[in-house]
Amino acid sequence: MNVKNLIILVIINIIFFGHLSLAKEVNIYSHRQPFLINPFLEEFTKRTGIKTNVVYSTKGLAQRLKAEGQNSPADVILTVDIGRLYIYEDNKLLLPIDSKVLNENIPAHLRSPKNTWFALSKRSRVIVTSKERVDTSKIKRIEDLANPEWKGRVCSRPGSHVYNRALMASIIAANGEDLAEKWAKSFVDNLARRPQGNDRAQVKAIFEGQCDIAIINNYYFGKLKYSEDLQQQEWAKTVNLIFPNQGNDDRGAHINISGGGVAIHSKNKDNAVKLLEFLSGEVSQNLYGKINFEYPANPKIKPSDELVGWGIPKEDQIPIIKIAELGPLAQRIIDRVGW
Ligand SMILES: [Fe+2]
Repeated sequence: MNVKNLIILVIINIIFFGHLSLAKEVNIYSHRQPFLINPFLEEFTKRTGIKTNVVYSTKGLAQRLKAEGQNSPADVILTVDIGRLYIYEDNKLLLPIDSKVLNENIPAHLRSPKNTWFALSKRSRVIVTSKERVDTSKIKRIEDLANPEWKGRVCSRPGSHVYNRALMASIIAANGEDLAEKWAKSFVDNLARRPQGNDRAQVKAIFEGQCDIAIINNYYFGKLKYSEDLQQQEWAKTVNLIFPNQGNDDRGAHINISGGGVAIHSKNKDNAVKLLEFLSGEVSQNLYGKINFEYPANPKIKPSDELVGWGIPKEDQIPIIKIAELGPLAQRIIDRVGW
């Protein structure tokens, strides 16, 4: 490009975008749902003038990114679960980025040691119990769900779901493979029915009296409590929330993350980093709690009032990458015990 053309391009950019940057957009591949991510993107565009384009999908985006190779339009990947983020890194689909803002906002145990992915929010896997039928003082730890006392009284979604696989990985990390498998076997022995349904369906099953105890992600409690469906509000009213492993010497409740990274062949890398930085900052971190009952990943930001109202759990501080690394072993145990 000669100097004359460059000057013309800069003038066009100033006229149209009011800035000197040549491309004012960022393309996002998102496993996160529109209701959640749109308010963040609107705010980002308002503040930076950078336009966002989003491809939403519940699955298959990593394969798509891989297949597209150099020609991929993707700049930013947003997803939930450390196992899924790890797949992107494992397939070399993420670009290492050097951002002082991200390194300051996101604690080291919640980001990739290679600086390829960063947690943006946290969620805790919690125990719910029937208010009528379970004495909450009897359940203090996730390990307690293996007690024979609960035989035929526990409901669960399939163990191979990423949320349960990550939980299983955390139990292996804390207790070792042998004890973890013993726990899983006894847990499965306690099931009231074949593992089925999503997290919400477990609360419904308690409401209907099919079982008394289940494990869910904390935000589903909020989603049910404030659901537009009055039935779902009733389900939430029938359960107590228990944050497991909260004792003084205990490790804290297992947490998982939502997070993001920059696509390896991003053509708008600066804007991609700006978006991740924005998502790790105060405005966005407050939104995660308000919109979806998730905890901020940035420790400088307080959780939402609603979350504080339920009690803020002590968290298992294990480097979250360990949960991903133990994922395959967790899955083998889950298969062996038939969870
Ligand atoms: Fe979920």
